[in-house]
Amino acid sequence: MAQPPSVIMDESGEPNPYLLGVYAPVQDEITTADLKVIGEIPADLNGVYLRNGPNARFPMRGRYHWFDGDGMVHAMHFEDGRARYRNRYVRTKAYQAETDRSLWTGVMENPKGNPFGNTRGLNLKDSANTDLIYHRGKVLATWYLCGSPYQLDPLSLETLGVETFLDTLTGDFMAHPKVDERTGELFWFDYGPRPPYLRYGVVGAGGAVEHCVELDLPGARLPHDMSITENYAILMDLPLYQDMEAARQGRYKLTFNRELPSRFGVIPRRGTADQIRWFEARPCYIYHVINSWETGDEIILDVCRVSRPAPKGDGGPLARMISYLKLDARLYRYRFNLVTGQTSEGYVDGDHNTEFPSIDARLTGQRSRYSYNVSVMDADTNLFNGLVKYDNLTGAKQEYYYGDHRYGSEAPFAPRDGSTAEDDGYLVTFVTDEREGTSEVQILNATDITQGPLARVLLPQRVPLGFHATWVRADQYRNAEHAGGQHPDGRYRTTQDPAGPRNAAAGGQNRTAHSAGQNPAVENPGGHGNGRSGESA
Ligand SMILES: [Fe+2]
Repeated sequence: MAQPPSVIMDESGEPNPYLLGVYAPVQDEITTADLKVIGEIPADLNGVYLRNGPNARFPMRGRYHWFDGDGMVHAMHFEDGRARYRNRYVRTKAYQAETDRSLWTGVMENPKGNPFGNTRGLNLKDSANTDLIYHRGKVLATWYLCGSPYQLDPLSLETLGVETFLDTLTGDFMAHPKVDERTGELFWFDYGPRPPYLRYGVVGAGGAVEHCVELDLPGARLPHDMSITENYAILMDLPLYQDMEAARQGRYKLTFNRELPSRFGVIPRRGTADQIRWFEARPCYIYHVINSWETGDEIILDVCRVSRPAPKGDGGPLARMISYLKLDARLYRYRFNLVTGQTSEGYVDGDHNTEFPSIDARLTGQRSRYSYNVSVMDADTNLFNGLVKYDNLTGAKQEYYYGDHRYGSEAPFAPRDGSTAEDDGYLVTFVTDEREGTSEVQILNATDITQGPLARVLLPQRVPLGFHATWVRADQYRNAEHAGGQHPDGRYRTTQDPAGPRNAAAGGQNRTAHSAGQNPAVENPGGHGNGRSGESA
């Protein structure tokens, strides 16, 4: 069945691949537990898988960039072997301001006439479309250019407003903050086109910003991610940045300066600006960090490294956008020697283009062995055709592919209830079939992803390809309930309403496309992939 063309277009008149096919936005907000299951959902998989991404709500003013779409979260809630799906827009301030048409232009247009932007004076729409971070009973929806973190109920997906951290947050908030579950702290930064170019901060376990410092950079930068270790935070100054001359003319243009090094700032977690130590390395760009930890005199930092972030060739704005967006990254390791100040660096896997990494989030900032990355297909647009599990102890890697014309999402690690080993659990991802225009959730055994899915949950609507995902364990939101006041699933308690609320949101529509499967027959759950095993790094 061919995918119908999207009704959401932009004003350029050019077909934009990021508005079509597997990227086309969906119209409906759905809540349903009436889902066909192929295979068996593990009873010890309890929690919620949430994925954010752009979903243009109205035809775009000017040209559309994939990063411009309104934030929409798709979620699968697993409980005692059952699954429930829902999707909701993030009700940002901009979402509320736009009632029947787009009021903002995107990053490919002059933003001068836009209604409002972030606190840094960047007059673009904060769509909260980029990542989701669980902290203190809430999920925070974030934006890559720095905006307001929007609080969501992890189960109902209701937008609860801007997280101000007890009125202590000043300025903006980046897309990929890090949470240390052992201490309850959250580490973040914000950046902007004018000094201070970078600010770094810590939200304490009590929920307030307890530490914030301004860091000196040679100019405006575009840091996307950060990392932590037991004692330090690591911030990045990479030589890909906005061309300020173009910005003065109202154009958004990036420059990659190969003459400059990549710099990694290592600062004590609650350090002052003058305590930061910069380690230099070869020029590159890094979207996403895998993890970092201290060992002996060194800090190890594993990342997905982009060696050539500039677009290939020229062409019009649409061609440049497509070229810039195409991920081309390799698993890479840095070692920063805190005694000598020296950096060593090199590929862990120089062959395979993998990105959107995830680890067992409980090990953030501590030594971790496994990383689960998406495999980026060789295509014009970003398509994740499979998953790669890396073992940094043995160098082994496992691969699993979804099959032709089937593409996945970021697949966070979901620990099994009572798990003991680091990879004792599951990977969960949405998989969208380009030809059928359908989507499903696949659950993989994290110990051996080559087996293919243990279960496939068929969804009543397509899930457009998107950005970041997270896994929230059931014990996290249950504990938040007991912590007092922050009851994330009060509107969703299964003992009261096993099916969950229906038609919960305005405009919501509960659609049932598949019959429920109480004891579903296994329909060759491995048949959709062509898992390969035993290929070493
Ligand atoms: Fe990202």
